[in-house]
Amino acid sequence: MEFIAQPGGSVCGTLRVPGDKSISHRCIMFGAIADGVTTVEGFLEGEDALSTIKAFRAMGVQIDGPDNGKVSIHGVGRGGLKAPAGELYVGNSGTSMRLLAGLLAGQAFDTVLTGDVSLSKRPMERVAVPLRAMGAKVETQEGGRPPMIIRGGQALHGIDYVLPMASAQVKSCVLLAGLYAEGQTRTTEPAPTRDHSERMLRGFGYPVKVDGATASLEGGHRMTAVHIDVPADISSAAFFMVAASITPGADLTLEHVGINPTRIGVVNILRAMGGSIELLNERDVGGEPVADIRIRYAPLKGIDIPENQVPLAIDEFPVLFVAAACAEGRTVLRGAEELRVKESDRIQVMADGLAGMGIQAEATEDGIIIDGGQITGGRVNSHHDHRIAMSFAVAALRATDSIHIEDCDNVATSFPNFVELAQHAGMRLEVR
Ligand code: S3P
Repeated sequence: MEFIAQPGGSVCGTLRVPGDKSISHRCIMFGAIADGVTTVEGFLEGEDALSTIKAFRAMGVQIDGPDNGKVSIHGVGRGGLKAPAGELYVGNSGTSMRLLAGLLAGQAFDTVLTGDVSLSKRPMERVAVPLRAMGAKVETQEGGRPPMIIRGGQALHGIDYVLPMASAQVKSCVLLAGLYAEGQTRTTEPAPTRDHSERMLRGFGYPVKVDGATASLEGGHRMTAVHIDVPADISSAAFFMVAASITPGADLTLEHVGINPTRIGVVNILRAMGGSIELLNERDVGGEPVADIRIRYAPLKGIDIPENQVPLAIDEFPVLFVAAACAEGRTVLRGAEELRVKESDRIQVMADGLAGMGIQAEATEDGIIIDGGQITGGRVNSHHDHRIAMSFAVAALRATDSIHIEDCDNVATSFPNFVELAQHAGMRLEVR
């Protein structure tokens, strides 16, 4: 599938983007091993979250839906998962693979986790290393890549793990293995990352202690089913936040968006660039803060992005680079080498794509330097990366020519109705 984004367009109205991907994955995983039936609304019906559903069905969990964002998970309890008949294929989803690895390390049976071409290039030793330290038997392939082979029936013990990188997936993986480990498991992170696992475990009644950068839990407790209302995904909202910020005359409201403090780097960064962003009607929805977000056009200026915002905006950089391309002056990002191991190398792919459209963009080892200018147009490939595809669709709002984006199927991993919502807002996006 290819996107053709015509230059110009408007960004107005009120939208609700789909449910949070991180929270949707965790609802299924935690609901599956809880006691009782967990009910979910606002679930992301994207391929990544569906991969997690498929994996748990393959392990004997009855899951009804998703139907209009509603899902019911018939929990089998902490010891109730069954050996799957074959490999667990999780498509493009790094979150599925890395969190499942932790959960599966503590099961009685063996599993094999596989993924698509993009996921098959991504580093898995970052989870295999701490799991082995807990007593798990985990194999990865050449270069530490998938498939991951996890040998069940091991007695896990808690560890005190200091993460070498800021990663919520690694943190969550270790904590999930900790549910099945003897004694206490502790994670300490170098910078705050999304804390949905810690919040949701508590929501399911599992005692988790958080003290600054350290989260800890004891193995062996049980979880109780709950109802979860999944907020709209701020990472999906980000495309429209940038779209409205760069489009003269824009005035857009995004409803029911999750504004967990570990996720709001995009708001902080756009505001620092001069963006006009209001958080309205702030409220708490089942332990996660939510707001409606109103964004109006404002001329942006280039900034040095504060390094402490990097983990808080980790998935939003491709589209923030588009904002930087439309800003006056230079934007510099540092300390973001993690972007090189996402669904694509997001530093290189964005630098090359923007440079091909008349923008001065220089990739550095751990970031990028972008000088604002005039986006022309042209052809780019998403490299199987949903967020690259959507970012260039947004760029067309300020381009002089059309932008053709190849290989857009994976937009459905996180944002299945992106094109419809973009058109609804006034963007001139077509699919071929
Ligand atoms: C996620 C954590 C982040 C993020 C990903 C979702 C999660 O990955 O990029 O989209 O749900 O825990 P890292 O932990 O690799 O930074």
